[in-house]
Amino acid sequence: MSESSLSPRQRIEALTAEIEAHNRRYYQDAAPSISDQEFDRLLRELKELEEAHPEFAAPDSPTRKVGGKPLEAFRQVRHRLPMQSLENTYSEAEVGEFYARLQKLLPGQSIPVVIEPKVDGVAVALTYEDGVFTLGLTRGDGATGDDITSNLRTLRNLPHRLKGAAKGLLEIRGEVFFPRASFERVNREREAAGEPAFVNPRNAAAGTLKQLDPATVARRPLAFIAHSFGLAEGEEVSSHREMFRLLERLGLPISEKHWVADSAEGILTAIRELDEFRRQLAYETDGAVVKVDSFAQRLRLGANSKAPRWAMAYKYAPEQAETRLRAITLQVGRTGVVTPVAELDPVFVSSTTVSRATLHNADEIARKDIRVGDLVVVEKAGEIIPAVVAVRTAARTGGEVPFVFPEDCPVCATKLVRDEGGVFWRCPNANCPAVLKRRLEHFASRGAMDIEGLGESMVEQLVNAGLVKTLPDLFDLQPALIAGLERQGTKSAQNLVGALAGAKDRPLWRLLFGLGIPQIGVSAARALAQRFGTLDAVAAASLEELTLVTDFGEIASRCVRDYFDRVDVRELVEALRIRGLNFGERDPAPVAASGGLPLAGTKWVITGTLSIGREEAAELIRAAGGAVSGSISKKTTYLLAGEEAGSKLEKARELGVKVLNETEWRALLPGGAAGVPSAVEADPAPVTPAPQAAAKDDGEPALPGF
Ligand code: IVH
Repeated sequence: MSESSLSPRQRIEALTAEIEAHNRRYYQDAAPSISDQEFDRLLRELKELEEAHPEFAAPDSPTRKVGGKPLEAFRQVRHRLPMQSLENTYSEAEVGEFYARLQKLLPGQSIPVVIEPKVDGVAVALTYEDGVFTLGLTRGDGATGDDITSNLRTLRNLPHRLKGAAKGLLEIRGEVFFPRASFERVNREREAAGEPAFVNPRNAAAGTLKQLDPATVARRPLAFIAHSFGLAEGEEVSSHREMFRLLERLGLPISEKHWVADSAEGILTAIRELDEFRRQLAYETDGAVVKVDSFAQRLRLGANSKAPRWAMAYKYAPEQAETRLRAITLQVGRTGVVTPVAELDPVFVSSTTVSRATLHNADEIARKDIRVGDLVVVEKAGEIIPAVVAVRTAARTGGEVPFVFPEDCPVCATKLVRDEGGVFWRCPNANCPAVLKRRLEHFASRGAMDIEGLGESMVEQLVNAGLVKTLPDLFDLQPALIAGLERQGTKSAQNLVGALAGAKDRPLWRLLFGLGIPQIGVSAARALAQRFGTLDAVAAASLEELTLVTDFGEIASRCVRDYFDRVDVRELVEALRIRGLNFGERDPAPVAASGGLPLAGTKWVITGTLSIGREEAAELIRAAGGAVSGSISKKTTYLLAGEEAGSKLEKARELGVKVLNETEWRALLPGGAAGVPSAVEADPAPVTPAPQAAAKDDGEPALPGF
């Protein structure tokens, strides 16, 4: 029966059963089969249904409990105070609502809150009696936990005896985690020993704490971090910050950093700062916990059956997520390489919804044993295309279908060949419609010939209608024929023909890049154009001459030489010449010796979001005599860092590479900020370069003069 045809009551029952099954897998088997996010979604749906139909809400509904049942094998002990969970959200707006609710419940009061990392570990409660560690429990179902005292005693950073003269009963709560740095190593050892690898550090921590033999636990580098009190007899503590100070005095490990805020905006700023900082932590974090600081205020706010009203967890969008692989399709690229693509149930990863991901090549599918129907892990890091990184083999039901890579091109049926490296399968047919489409898309793209109106769907139509059979055909297109295509009119047809005519004057480097010569990206294309001046000179250059081009390796040189030796390429070049494309003769004269330019001799890397496009920024740097590259090394002179700069910024700091913000950078361009017309267009705000002041903000020394 489909979900929509169920009555609310039936849906509540179905959801309850499903959530309970997932709880068992998570807490008892330590083998979850869905992501936390999917689980949260199910729980949220159940909660909303129960709120709309309270008459069907069971008293023991999973929305009112925390999790699974404790393991049979360990002694079970009742918690002195239930171990509650936290309300959580992925939405910044809901953080604002949380703070607004606090203000409503505590009218007229100042309400400082503490923001700290949400440790992605295993929750434990530690009892110290007169300063001695006597009992350690898992959360279990929140009311009763497993006695894992012996296992916890093996943790190196968990004190057996507290510092100072701690008296009475103290119950400390916190998380046990598997340090990220050791995770890979332990997995390699497990694989070598024929044991299944842990899927993530939290899973490794949970799996380790479940061990009945403490000797096994002792061999793993588990660690503890404290974040709250259960009970604190005889201690005078009235706020979270005071608690932190006490825990430190007692010798207990706590978060190395926390923030204090007293407004929604302040909380969000802290959450964003923590997001930057958390990658440096030894443990994985999946969010930020926001807690009211004052214990008196906490008491006033109270709790519901599941979570306190004085705290909330904000969860960061995961960079990995689990989803179902529905099908594997094949994509033929511009060089004919056939790439398998995963068609997925849409899933939210790193702030976007992903429904397709690359599977790289046939060998990767075989190596990871990816089957259609599998539950897979999708990862999207930074600007990289989403990829399927792992399979949850434990979640298989037997109906999954292994993938057989085809022998023929899925588009033109030509027999596929292995490429030289032996990794990829390639369609060798230069006239394969799929290859042609990808080549045209690349040729017309913004970074190459920049032909407005010639995007993916137009290319698709032109090739399918037989109007374009080879690349030069583009320049013979007649408006009337384009206008006859579906969804096209006279106006758009004329615009496209106009754009194509305009493209004939593009600088040589754009044509060189647009041709799609293997190994030749934008900067190699620029270097070739600069060194040789015309397409004919590039085509005639010897291997030795090519190798002399700055930063040109032997492989790239060989690719260029091989490319222009091909008969079909020679024909292509002549066909483009006849159609009047600029082969370099019409390029603007090279600027005077770069020695006189302000950025001569400097090497730049650009990261983050600027007020103009990165390519545009790169053009400005090059025009001023600088070189731009994609990765940071010790040779990099400057990192130009825009908003939300990430790993490159970290790397620059590590290597001691000077970091400039946009204002500082603009000040170095010829004529300063005002002298750069496109920059002024894009950013009308007056940008008065003030290197000293800006440098001070960054805590960096002032810039050297140029
Ligand atoms: S405070 C009433 N602080 O996340 C619960 N919990 O999803 C108060 N967690 O049950 C908990 N890091 O096991 C708190 N800094 C932190 C935390 C944290 C991780 C865990 C904890 C909690 C769960 C809720």
